Amino acid sequence: MIYHTNNNMQIAHTAAEMRGQLQALRGHKSIAFVPTMGCLHQGHISLIEKAKSLADIVVVSLYVNPLQFAPSEDLEQYPRPFEADARLCADAGVDFLFHPASLYPESGCKVTLKVTTLHDCLCGTSRPDHFDGVVTAVNVLFNIVQPNIAIFGEKDWQQLSIIRHMVNDLSMPIEIVGAAIVREPDGLAMSSRNRYLNNHERQQALAISQALIAMQQQAENGEHDVKALRNTARNILEKNAITAQYIEIRNATSLEEIDTLDHHNNQNSRAFIAAHVGAARLIDNMPIHSMPQEQQP
Ligand code: PAJ
Repeated sequence: MIYHTNNNMQIAHTAAEMRGQLQALRGHKSIAFVPTMGCLHQGHISLIEKAKSLADIVVVSLYVNPLQFAPSEDLEQYPRPFEADARLCADAGVDFLFHPASLYPESGCKVTLKVTTLHDCLCGTSRPDHFDGVVTAVNVLFNIVQPNIAIFGEKDWQQLSIIRHMVNDLSMPIEIVGAAIVREPDGLAMSSRNRYLNNHERQQALAISQALIAMQQQAENGEHDVKALRNTARNILEKNAITAQYIEIRNATSLEEIDTLDHHNNQNSRAFIAAHVGAARLIDNMPIHSMPQEQQP
């Protein structure tokens, strides 16, 4: 890991401060933006590293966005280790840290954004208002930071897909860049919510990436039937006492469901899993490549 400690990192706590700090740079420096909810880990840092490689200035936001949490979810418990996050950002070479107390008017938002595609599947099924909350927050953040580039992780594949639609449909002059999933050495996708896991649950959670890898391998060995692939994943999860919220294989771009893998149509498929382990709701995804028909035994 390369550290570029930035002892000059500036911290803004309001939209006006953030705008003021960035004003002098606009027009002659390119700005890359990494929105986060804080409780930073190496996955977030990889986004910052990518941002540094793509632009002159890197802005990171730390904001736990209430609009994307349902009342039953972990808004209150979500960890907010500001000092540690700020240190990690400075060590990673971040130029500006935006840490607002709120993004919205005190009286609440009278206008919000609504997602009309890609939202009613995968995570959107169990979190129906989640993506409306995400795009509303990201839109406000984009309006304050006005970046040239924004980096989002493939860990939240559906979120990344929806953000790409948002900038396209609403004609925002911002390039959206995806970044690969960063994993623990044993394969567990890094997540701020991994902090909720005790030792036993941490071991159980490993089954999620293992189930995805098993589907990948089975597909590469010639299994094209998605039901069979999903059963393989379900068995691995169940052996580890995990009941998945979903195990799905979908087109990576359209997020349409796939029944049969089809190499010839250049199908771009991806497997997705969400599961509760202890108090944590965890998600992960991986590409699925089927073997060309002619190479099959
Ligand atoms: P958060 O969960 O903090 O994630 C911030 C960014 O880090 C997202 O783009 C996410 O995909 C990325 N990320 C998280 N874990 C990762 C991993 N293991 N590897 C690579 N990237 C990873 O996503 C959000 O916050 C919020 O919805 C937000 C976009 C900030 C809007 O509130």
